[in-house]
Amino acid sequence: MTLSLNSKFPPVQSTRLRRLRATPALRSMVCENVLLPSDFIWPVFVMDGTNAEEPITSMPGVMRRTVDRIGAAAKDAYALGIPAICVFPHTNMQNRTKDCALAWSPENVANRAIRAIKDAVPDMVVMTDIALDPYNINGHDGFVENGEIVNDRTVEALVKMALTQVECGADILGPSDMMDGRIGAIRSALESHAHPNVIILSYTAKYASAFYGPFRDAVGASTALTGDKKTYQMDPANSEEAMRLVARDLNEGADMIMVKPGMPYLDIVRRVKTEFSVPTFAYQVSGEYAMIVAAAQNGWLDHDSVMMESLLAFKRAGADGILTYFAPAAAKLLNS
Ligand code: PBG
Repeated sequence: MTLSLNSKFPPVQSTRLRRLRATPALRSMVCENVLLPSDFIWPVFVMDGTNAEEPITSMPGVMRRTVDRIGAAAKDAYALGIPAICVFPHTNMQNRTKDCALAWSPENVANRAIRAIKDAVPDMVVMTDIALDPYNINGHDGFVENGEIVNDRTVEALVKMALTQVECGADILGPSDMMDGRIGAIRSALESHAHPNVIILSYTAKYASAFYGPFRDAVGASTALTGDKKTYQMDPANSEEAMRLVARDLNEGADMIMVKPGMPYLDIVRRVKTEFSVPTFAYQVSGEYAMIVAAAQNGWLDHDSVMMESLLAFKRAGADGILTYFAPAAAKLLNS
């Protein structure tokens, strides 16, 4: 039996969901997720030279800085409440060799930047990138032998890279190379070299993505890369495989898990969080940043609103934190 609109007893609207959206105060009471400056890890680009900064064309608003300028930038970020910074080196063709030897030199630009940040802001958490691509003549994350990106020899080099970064003061290691077995190899080297407290944030579900384009400009890799990274980075079609990778990396000693890129892969973030309940991070990569900023520059999107909405989406999907080039701008807005 249905009630007619003219009935003496009108239909009971027990679930008017708009009731709780009626005012800002009510909305704030039932808000499920919030963004904080402490959710951000800020990726920065460092380069050789002195007292210089240069803009990155495909990432408007993002700068490459010389090492002598990175301490001050880190200090500003820390003052905004950003707890962690992630260092990426810009390298030119002269820095790149077949044996990638610069990767484990304490004097490479990334390792000098780690020391500069630790000197300027000892309390800031410094994260690194572990992969051979900035130092490799062909732009790959691993050694190339007869056209193949070889796994085990690469892992040995990544271990050397990791130990040097730790000796320079790194707090969190970020293996982004997607070789098999690298987490276990790095973890056991850390244990045997008396670094039991160093954290590994594994780039676990890292997809072979076209969204990394602007980053490769930023680090000087666009012209270096021959071929693609599909034999080691994941197929964007796969989700089950990501769960196997998470299980493996946790088993090998990873403390935290990353999903990358971010916004197109929020389903993976949610699955990792739901199925493993471990600290889960997402990387809002260069192409995601570039899309938002380019649309805003054209007047097609509102920069600040879209920035904040995109970042909040990561929290809703289950991320504990976000690597984002927006970190300083978003932290400023959150603090204002
Ligand atoms: C390199 C590395 C890449 C990114 C982070 N580390 C690029 C790649 O895998 O080719 C991409 C970050 C971004 O696009 O913002 N190992």
